[in-house]
Amino acid sequence: MLPGRDEWQLSPCDLLTAIGMRESHRRFLPSPLSLQELSLLLWATQGVRAVVHEAAVLRTVPSAGCRHPFETYFAAFRVEGLAPAIYRYLPLDHALILEKDPEGLAVSLAVAAHGQRFVAEAAGCFIWTAIPRRTEWRYAEASYKVIALDAGHVCQNLYLACEAIGAGTCAIAAYRQDLMDELLGVDGDEEFTIYIAPVGKV
Ligand SMILES: Cc1cc2nc3c(=O)[nH]c(=O)nc-3n(C[C@H](O)[C@H](O)[C@H](O)COP(=O)(O)O)c2cc1C
Repeated sequence: MLPGRDEWQLSPCDLLTAIGMRESHRRFLPSPLSLQELSLLLWATQGVRAVVHEAAVLRTVPSAGCRHPFETYFAAFRVEGLAPAIYRYLPLDHALILEKDPEGLAVSLAVAAHGQRFVAEAAGCFIWTAIPRRTEWRYAEASYKVIALDAGHVCQNLYLACEAIGAGTCAIAAYRQDLMDELLGVDGDEEFTIYIAPVGKV
C-alpha cells in the first residue's frame, strides 16, 4: 500500500501557480522522489475518486464513457523505500505491485525511447499502456480518438502535480513500440504502451 492522502506531509503549491509554471523538464536533480511524492503523482494521474458500481469507477482524470483504458507502470530508479524495478499501480487499492526487475532498466528505457538520455537520469518513469478492448466494445472505431484524448488528460495531471511538489516531467511519445512493449512484457496488441513520462525532482 502507498501512503494515502491523509498521510501526506507535502505542501503542494496552488493550482493557478502549477498551471502557470507547467513546462517540460528534461533535467532532473539526483535526489530521489519520496514515496509520498510518488503516491501523490499516482493518485493525481489514475487515483480513484469514487466507486459508483463495479463498472463505473470515477478517477481523478476523466475518461470517455468512464472506460479508463489505461494501466500505469512505473519504472523506479530512485524512489525512497522502493527497490529499482518496474511496478504496476492498482488504483482501487492505491498500491503498487512488483511486475519485473530487468537488468539495466534505466538504460533499456532510454534506448527504447530512441536514445533520449534524460529518461535514464530521472528518478523514475511513468509508462502508460492502453487496453483497447475496454473502450472498443462501446466506442468501436471512435476508440482510437477517445483513447488518445484520455491519455492527454492523464499526462496533463502528471505535469500539474509535478509542478505542485517541486518535481518535473516531460511527455514522451517518441519511443520504439516493440522495445517498450517488450520491456513491460505486454503483447503490443491486447495491451500496448501509449505514452511515457520520466519524473524527477527539479
Ligand atoms: C504528445 C506529446 C509527445 C511528446 N513527445 C516528446 C518526446 O518524445 N520527447 C521530448 O523531449 N518531448 C516530447 N514532448 C514534449 C514537447 O516537446 C513539449 O511539450 C513542447 O516542446 C512544449 O514545451 P513545454 O511542454 O515546456 O510547454 C511531447 C509532448 C506531447 C504533448
